[in-house]
Amino acid sequence: MAEMSHAGSEASSPETAPRTDADIPNRWLDGIAVPDVVRGLACGRPVEPVWRNEIGGVTFSIDDGAEYVKYGSPHAEFDPDAEFERLRWVSAFVEAPRPIDHGADGAGNRWLRTAGIAATSAVLGGWREQPALVVPELGRGLRLFHDRVPVRGCPWTWSVSSRLRERGLPEQALGPWPEFDPVVCHGDACNPNFLLNRDGLCVAYVDLGRLGVGDRWADLAPALLSLGWNFGSGWEEAFLAGYGIARDPAKQDFYTRLWNAE
Ligand SMILES: Nc1ncnc2c1ncn2[C@@H]1O[C@H](COP(=O)(O)OP(=O)(O)OP(=O)(O)O)[C@@H](O)[C@H]1O
Ligand SMILES: [Mg+2]
Repeated sequence: MAEMSHAGSEASSPETAPRTDADIPNRWLDGIAVPDVVRGLACGRPVEPVWRNEIGGVTFSIDDGAEYVKYGSPHAEFDPDAEFERLRWVSAFVEAPRPIDHGADGAGNRWLRTAGIAATSAVLGGWREQPALVVPELGRGLRLFHDRVPVRGCPWTWSVSSRLRERGLPEQALGPWPEFDPVVCHGDACNPNFLLNRDGLCVAYVDLGRLGVGDRWADLAPALLSLGWNFGSGWEEAFLAGYGIARDPAKQDFYTRLWNAE
């Protein structure tokens, strides 16, 4: 999910500075209490917070990554029902967490439990210090997603009109729409949502609550935007080369503005 998540505060740090997990605001996890419902789902297994999103939700790892529970208050950006259904559907085509169950607790907060995938977010585990390896792979990973997940039969849309409508914006709020090149979009193609194996290959995708048919640049724009937050400036060409597409400034601009309007 959007804008300044995923290491937003370090956009101005020099490219050469070491980038460690601890620099990422999403990893500032001190003082996070484990909610009772998460404790209950763990049934005595160890629980650790591993990620805090920009709307205050937290993902917990159970039993050292055997399972993950995403927990937070109801929000347009966090809909466990939507994510559960999408995870169930998309796993026929690409590797994504197997959804186990979801629900709400007495405090009105919601949770989603998934089976753990033995791979690491592209911004954790030291990967941010290897952009020359990781960035083209992120491009390849996104291309693989778009190539493998079929538009035909996808039950959801992530169209310009639906996104503008959700924000209460008129259809022409961002000016004329670019020509439509449909794919099934990931829906939050920011770098942390791509999981890498030990060799640095993109092997899985997480955070699929907004998956739906949209333009490929609807994913490319936030993916490129988040490179700056996570890897510093100057990596866009490497990403686009990995994806295998030429730069399209008009589409990138349109879909970046749409992303930033959310
Ligand atoms: N099933 C899983 N297997 C492996 N890692 C997972 C799994 N689920 C979540 N993670 C890890 O937890 C992190 C947070 O999960 P996720 O992206 O779903 O949460 P989020 O709060 O929606 O994130 P964002 O900040 O992008 O909005 C992921 O980047 C990944 O590192
Ligand atoms: Mg995420």
